[in-house]
Amino acid sequence: MTGTPGILFAVGSQKPAASNSRSLADYLAEKLRQRGVPSKQIHILPLVRAEERRNELFAAVDDADFLFLVFPLFVDSQPWSVVRFMELVAAHRRSANAGPMRLAALVNSGFPEARHNHTALAICRQFAVESNMRWAGGLALGSGAVIGGKPLPEAGRTVRPVMKALDMVADALADGRDIPAEAIALMARPLMPNWIYRNVATLGFWWTARKNGVSGKLRACPFSSPVEP
Ligand SMILES: Cc1cc2nc3c(=O)[nH]c(=O)nc-3n(C[C@H](O)[C@H](O)[C@H](O)COP(=O)(O)O)c2cc1C
Repeated sequence: MTGTPGILFAVGSQKPAASNSRSLADYLAEKLRQRGVPSKQIHILPLVRAEERRNELFAAVDDADFLFLVFPLFVDSQPWSVVRFMELVAAHRRSANAGPMRLAALVNSGFPEARHNHTALAICRQFAVESNMRWAGGLALGSGAVIGGKPLPEAGRTVRPVMKALDMVADALADGRDIPAEAIALMARPLMPNWIYRNVATLGFWWTARKNGVSGKLRACPFSSPVEP
């Protein structure tokens, strides 16, 4: 450790600025600040892309005593930049014989069922084992798209349970406890009935296609062989 101990939020969205992951990390960081717990945030993608920024990445991790990964689910797993981050940090901590720190993760997915995120959380737990970190708990959020990249307090009533779950997390971390089971359960609760989410998502998908002039091609199969049905 080279600085004030605190929590490092490592945000793993592929989006450069506003993202659902960033909104979640920002909200929790603010709640922790209100409870006197300092935190810092890094955006993983530019740090793993640029080799010359590796030291910046490692210094941020070395300065923290708690790493909190916040990222979206991509094809049932972490985005490539988060996988790369975990590989780099694990190798760095092993070669530096780094002392123990805690790890937690919050994964948000587009599909409404939070359980889609469980494989990604299991990968995080294995990362903890291989990096001399102690697992402090994992949160899974379905229907992440309802956040719309906005700050959570401005994202509407639907995300109130998400904020409540993060308030519980802030209370626990400020007390030195791990992520409480009640917060994990509340975060995983569906934000709305599945049929509403599916219909709204389908409409949004069609609307995006229309804006891009391809609404008539939604069932196109450009890579299928002409002999296949
Ligand atoms: C390339 C790609 C792959 C995705 N794969 C999944 C997936 O397997 N399951 C899922 O539920 N959502 C998936 N999503 C949706 C994202 O997880 C979801 O939109 C998330 O809220 C984005 O978070 P962000 O704004 O922090 O990037 C995918 C999105 C993209 C762009």
